Amino acid sequence: MTPTLKLLTRPRVAGIAASLALCALASPASADVDITVRADQPGDTISKYVYGQFAEHLGRGIYEGIWVGEDSDIPNTDGFRDDVIEALKPLKIPVIRWPGGCFADEYHWRDGIGPREDRPVRINTHWGWVEEDNAFGTHEFMQLVELLDSEAYIAGNIGSAPPVDMAQWLQYMTADDDSTLAQERRANGREEPWEVAFWGVGNETWGCGGNMTPAYYTDLYRRYSTFLKTPPGTRTKLVASGGQNANTDWTEALSAGTKDAGFFFKIDGISHHYYTLPTGDWGKKGAATGFPESEWISTLQRTLMVDSHLDKQEAVLDEHDPDGDIGIYLDEWGTWYDPTEGSTQGFLEQQNSIRDAVVAALNFNVFHEHTERLHMANIAQTVNVLQAVLLTDGARMVKTPTYHAFQLYVPFQDATFLPLELDDVPDYEVGEVSVPHVSATAALATSGELVIGLVNLHAEDTIDVKVSLEGFEADTAVATVLTGASMDAHNTFDVPDAVTPAALDVDLDGDDELELELPARSVVVVRLTP
Ligand code: AHR
Repeated sequence: MTPTLKLLTRPRVAGIAASLALCALASPASADVDITVRADQPGDTISKYVYGQFAEHLGRGIYEGIWVGEDSDIPNTDGFRDDVIEALKPLKIPVIRWPGGCFADEYHWRDGIGPREDRPVRINTHWGWVEEDNAFGTHEFMQLVELLDSEAYIAGNIGSAPPVDMAQWLQYMTADDDSTLAQERRANGREEPWEVAFWGVGNETWGCGGNMTPAYYTDLYRRYSTFLKTPPGTRTKLVASGGQNANTDWTEALSAGTKDAGFFFKIDGISHHYYTLPTGDWGKKGAATGFPESEWISTLQRTLMVDSHLDKQEAVLDEHDPDGDIGIYLDEWGTWYDPTEGSTQGFLEQQNSIRDAVVAALNFNVFHEHTERLHMANIAQTVNVLQAVLLTDGARMVKTPTYHAFQLYVPFQDATFLPLELDDVPDYEVGEVSVPHVSATAALATSGELVIGLVNLHAEDTIDVKVSLEGFEADTAVATVLTGASMDAHNTFDVPDAVTPAALDVDLDGDDELELELPARSVVVVRLTP
């Protein structure tokens, strides 16, 4: 049988999932996959910002998850959990989005500055109707950003606050003069202005952010962004609040409706959200553990839809912004399951299994294919909420499989994308649902290593993969695998290493060919030194 070759490269004409599926249709029954990495055809830089995080005032995400306060028995520095901060550092988190989410559009920044004992107590009306004592505010968030050597992405309130509040918050943070706002920041303990890299103008304004229409929000965005100014010589990127899933109305309205905007107007990106539900039904999303194989595969199939969702936004932007000035900010993505039994309503707590790690790696592989327009992605959410990288219980903390997927993919941050040719990728099918058996990505890391990310989507079967290198001579090859004993294998506080990275055998034949066997339900990263 003649093998089918498909070049995965850019500019893209079809999504990675579609490309892989096409290969699969014409592929022979063999379980082997041949991959050629075209190191001789380097592409664009994979922005490190697609490895961003999102941390909202929601449930135990900030309070308890990150911040316990100075008086806590849980070991902390200035109120920040030591275990969580130490665990997050190796992920080299490039950017953190805060304070929401839906919370952003009911948050007033003044509630979270000044002496903590004087800060007002509000109700978090979106998430559990619980008291919010504002102990964690702007100064605490920026300290977190600095502790993690990260960058700030603030989501401002457009839903329930006037433009002057958003403008003054930005000035409070960035002013380097004798203005009253700068003096107030200094009096509150921060002498130097902060660098605020990114600023979101509202969140989900089609829903919790104000139930607006695309046209109404586009006008509001024009108005608010006019007043979002930083001192001369500094620059904060402005991100408009966009749509979700396959919907392009918001991208359309914003990119078409801001073309003629004049003085002081800025738009650097449009946000987009996509959550993966195993069933696609918000009423019964599907369980985080103890699910059938039909929900294993439907989750993977649904998460791969991110590729076509991004394609659709890109097509709109290519029409209205052919110069490529406006980026897509996928500032909320991840799995969303039925909540853990017994957890507080509205806290969005869920367990995290090897399925989540596979979901994460599939998303990374897709993100790499969209480097031109995809300027940022932020997983929801960092600790204890939705597809978290860390879970805590009192003083205990555990790294989730998603954490390990993020760590394995660190070398892809700011790496140079390399196209792949994939040959003979079989389908993996359960009932009517079908996904490719294997997903792959490759890049030239800033360290000089060639790095390959591989995902075996099959719940039960291993698969042999042969990789040929064009334009790169490898001296050594090291492979690391993340897999679990079952489809829902996960880490608990008592067994924290049930799903943890391990070495995987890889045969390097000569300097340009390698062979390895991918275990079922696995994420594998191979690092090749020149
Ligand atoms: O991440 C949880 C919520 O999901 C966010 O607050 C909101 O923006 C989205 O609907």
